[in-house]
This record gives sequence, structure tokens and C-alpha cells, in this order.
Amino acid sequence: MTLPPEPQVSPHPTVITDPADLRAALRGHAVAFVPTMGALHEGHATLIRAARAAVPGGRVVVSVFVNPMQFGPNEDLSRYPRDLDGDRRVAGEAGADLLFHPDVPTMYPDGFSTSVSVSGVSEPLDGAARPGHFTGVATVVLKLLNLVRPDVALFGEKDWQQLAVVRRMVRDLNLPVDVRGVPTVREDSGLALSSRNAYLSADQRAQAAVLSRALRAVQAAYADGERRGAALRQAGLDVLTTAADLSLDYLSVVGSDMHEREIMDNDPMNRVLVAARMFGVRLIDNMPLAAHVAAGQSTVSPA
Ligand code: PAJ
Repeated sequence: MTLPPEPQVSPHPTVITDPADLRAALRGHAVAFVPTMGALHEGHATLIRAARAAVPGGRVVVSVFVNPMQFGPNEDLSRYPRDLDGDRRVAGEAGADLLFHPDVPTMYPDGFSTSVSVSGVSEPLDGAARPGHFTGVATVVLKLLNLVRPDVALFGEKDWQQLAVVRRMVRDLNLPVDVRGVPTVREDSGLALSSRNAYLSADQRAQAAVLSRALRAVQAAYADGERRGAALRQAGLDVLTTAADLSLDYLSVVGSDMHEREIMDNDPMNRVLVAARMFGVRLIDNMPLAAHVAAGQSTVSPA
């Protein structure tokens, strides 16, 4: 006799939109926090599971807020994927208790006029390619940290420069939160998971794996003993020239300060970062120069 399948029980986290309700729900609890812009995927789920593990008896909060302040005028704010039901399911299955989903006027009331800008680490790379982006990120992350008041906040290494910016802000402004980085989750092809992959067809996603192959080629050159920044970079560019529809923003080999060097030392914080537009979608990825650092040690984090 075959039994019917067990019904899937997925505890759906409570959705909270009002900051006062959020405070009331969290009072007296240890809190781990995962800020997101929604369209949650396995990368986000990995952060949420790490948050769950960080506060076993506490509360895990996931924010879903597509932050207008970090999008440029010609970017994809209006078409950014939104799926609150899917987000509740993914967040619940990964162990989230609460989903904080404020609306734009709550976060940016009329007359909003304060921003946080982090100089240095936020200037090159995506800072140069997306003017104002990291000011938008730092400002919303500070606001969310003030609203949630977590003990621990988790960010993905997928956005390596963002992690550096957040760490620098937290240190410089003495924010009482433990920031933890989580290694990048990838498809089998090597493509880093991203909400923006939803814009791509399966075939385009397969082609976009060229970005991670380029990063691996830089790692291989580094493993072979290459230490000249320009030569390491060239090893990645050689792979990218094989791609059909790719317009490169940058491929950079940098130290922990996000700046290029002529000669790279053996610092485990050295990293190769890439940003490119493929099939009309801007994709980013990065890896440590020393490949073994990629094996899941999230103890190294920028800034
Ligand atoms: P979002 O792109 O939704 O990402 C939320 C968090 O998930 C970030 O810390 C990001 O680095 C992490 N993440 C995304 N893809 C990942 C992957 N493949 N593996 C591991 N982690 C991954 O980053 C933002 O939102 C926003 O800038 C935010 C910080 C929420 C501020 O608005």
C-alpha cells in the first residue's frame, strides 16, 4: 500500500510592516537579522539558516525592502522582482520568525534628508559604476539596524564590496552589532545565485557562468605563483573574451581596501571582482585569490 505524501508543513513567518509592532515582537529576545530586497533564493536561505544557528532560542528577522535609494535613475527599481508569498515560504522554511516589510513612506517620510556615506572602500568598483549606490545601501542598512536592533546581522560575500562598506560603517559608528559574512551560494554551473538571475533564461544563465570561470582562471594563475596584478587580471579577461553578449564594467584584483595593487601579496583578503552586463542584466561576482579561502571560511571578511 502506498501512503499519500506527508503534507508539507512550512511555518510561515509573520509579516510585520509597522516598526512599533516589530519592536514589540522583539523585546527581550536575542535577534539575528538578514536584510534583503526579497525575491528570496537559496543564497538568502543560507543566510537565514546561519541567522537561525546564531541565536538558537532567539528571533530571526528577515527584512524585505526594495530600497529606492540604492538604485540609480536608469536602473531596474520598477522591474525588480517582487514575490512576498514566495519570500514568506523560503524565509519560513529556512527558520525565520518574522518578515519585516515596511513601505517606502515608512522608511523615507516626506522631508527625509539624512544619508550615510562611507568613503574609501565604497569609491572604486561598484561605487564608481553606480554613483550613490553605496550611500543608499549604508543609509538603509543603518536605518534597518536601528529598527531591528539585532545582536547579529548576516550579509553575503556575493556582495563583497557591500560587506566591506557595512563593516566599515559599523566599526566607524560604533554600532552594537556583530556583522558576519556568509560565502557565496552558486548554481552547479558556478553562476552565483542572484535575484537578478530571474531576468535570464536557462540558456542565458548557463552562458553567464563565464563570469565565475573567469574568476577561477584568476585563482588558477594565482595558485601557479602569479602575483602581478595586471597578469592576474589578464587571466580573467582572456576567459571573458570567449563570451558572446558581454559588456564589462570591471574585472579587478584588489586588496582588502578594494584598491588594485601592482603586486599582490598573500593576504587572504585579496580578491578578484567582476561586474558585467549580459543579456541586458548587470551581474556581479567575486572570489578570493587564494582558492582554499572559498571553501566556506566566513571568518575572513573585508574592511
Ligand atoms: P539582496 O540583493 O536581496 O541580498 C540580500 C543579502 O543576500 C545580501 O547580504 C547578499 O550579499 C546576500 N546574497 C545574495 N545572493 C547571495 C548568494 N548567491 N550567496 C550568498 N549570499 C547572497 O544586498 C541587498 O539585497 C541590499 O543591498 C540590502 C543589503 C538588503 C540593502 O538594501
